[in-house]
Amino acid sequence: MPTITRVGVLGCGLMGSGIAQTAAAAGFPTVVRDVGDALLDTGRAGIRKSLDKLAEKGKLDPATPDAALGRLRFVTDLDALSDCDLIIEAITEDLELKNTLWRELDALCPPATIFASNTSSLSIAEMAAATGRPDRFVGLHFFNPVPLMPLVEVVRTVTTSRDTFDAALDFSRRLGKEPIVARDRSGFIVNLLLVPFLLDAIRALERGVGTTADIDRGMQLGCGHPMGPLTLADFVGLDTTARIADIMFEEYREPRYAPPPLLRRMVVAGFHGRKSGRGFYDYSATPPVPIDLGL
Ligand code: 3HC
Repeated sequence: MPTITRVGVLGCGLMGSGIAQTAAAAGFPTVVRDVGDALLDTGRAGIRKSLDKLAEKGKLDPATPDAALGRLRFVTDLDALSDCDLIIEAITEDLELKNTLWRELDALCPPATIFASNTSSLSIAEMAAATGRPDRFVGLHFFNPVPLMPLVEVVRTVTTSRDTFDAALDFSRRLGKEPIVARDRSGFIVNLLLVPFLLDAIRALERGVGTTADIDRGMQLGCGHPMGPLTLADFVGLDTTARIADIMFEEYREPRYAPPPLLRRMVVAGFHGRKSGRGFYDYSATPPVPIDLGL
C-alpha cells in the first residue's frame, strides 16, 4: 500500500480549508493551492480561528494550532503540489474545471501520486478517465465543518486499484475520521439521502406547510437534528445545494432531486446562505432571523 506523507489540497474555500486544517493538525505537511492571495488569506484566517477555538475547548493540544499552521503552505502555483503523495481536490462542482486541473497535475506529478476528489455529486470515473492514472484516483468526500464532522465517504470507482482504495481508507483513519465506503453514484450515501430531504423542506416552505422557523424547529425538536433543514441548506450554501441537486437530477432523472423553483430564484437573487449573509435567514442579526421571501 502506498504511504502518504505529503498532502496537497486544491481549493481553499469552506471545504478545502477544512480538509487542509484537518490534515495539518493530524501531522501531515500540507500545501493548499487556490487561484488568488485574497482567497488564501481568508482560508488561512478561518483555519487559525478554528484551530484556536478547538484548542480553547480542549479538543486539541494547546501546541497544535501553531504546529499545524507551521505544516501548512498556502500557494497559488500548481507546481508546488508536484511532490505530494496525495492531492485532494475541493474546488467548485464543475467537471470541466476539475478535469482541467487534473490534466495539468497529471503532467506535473510522479506516477505514484494519488488523486482524490471531494466532489459530492460528480462522477469519480469521469475525473479518473481524464488522467493517465485512473487506477490511482479515488473519492474522498468530507462533511462541513470538516474539523468537526467525523465522517469521510471513501469512493472506489470501477478503475480504482485496491492499493489506492486501501491507502485512502488508511489516510482517512490517520486524519482521525471514520470512513464509510460508497459506490461511485451521484450523491454517494449521505447526499443521496440528505439532498432530497433539504429540497423537501424548501418545497414545504414554498407550499405554505409551515414557516421557516417552524420547519427548522420541527426537525430539531421532533427528530433531534442539530440544525433544521433550512438552516442546514444555508450552511451548505444554497448555490452549492442547487448545483448538487442539478447534478443528481441529471444522473437519476427523478423529480425528488430537481431543485424547487424557490431555490433557483434565491440563488439568482444572490441569497447563497450563511456565507453570503442571507439565505432562508438574515445572518446580520444575532441570532439570525428568517427572511420574508414574499411567499
Ligand atoms: N471549527 C472549530 N469550531 C467550530 C467550527 C469549526 N469549523 N464550527 C463551529 N465550531 C464551534 C462553534 O464555534 C461552537 O463553539 P462554542 O460552543 O464555543 O460557541 C461549537 O463548535 C458548537 O457550535 P454551535 O454552537 O454552532 O452549535 P452546534 O452544537 O450545533 O454545533 C455543528 C455545530 C457541529 C455544525 C452542528 O450544528 C452540526 O452537526 N450541524 C450539522 C452539520 C451537518 O449536517 N453537516 C453536513 C452537511 S452536508 C455536507 O457537508 C456534504 C456536502 O457535500 C454538501
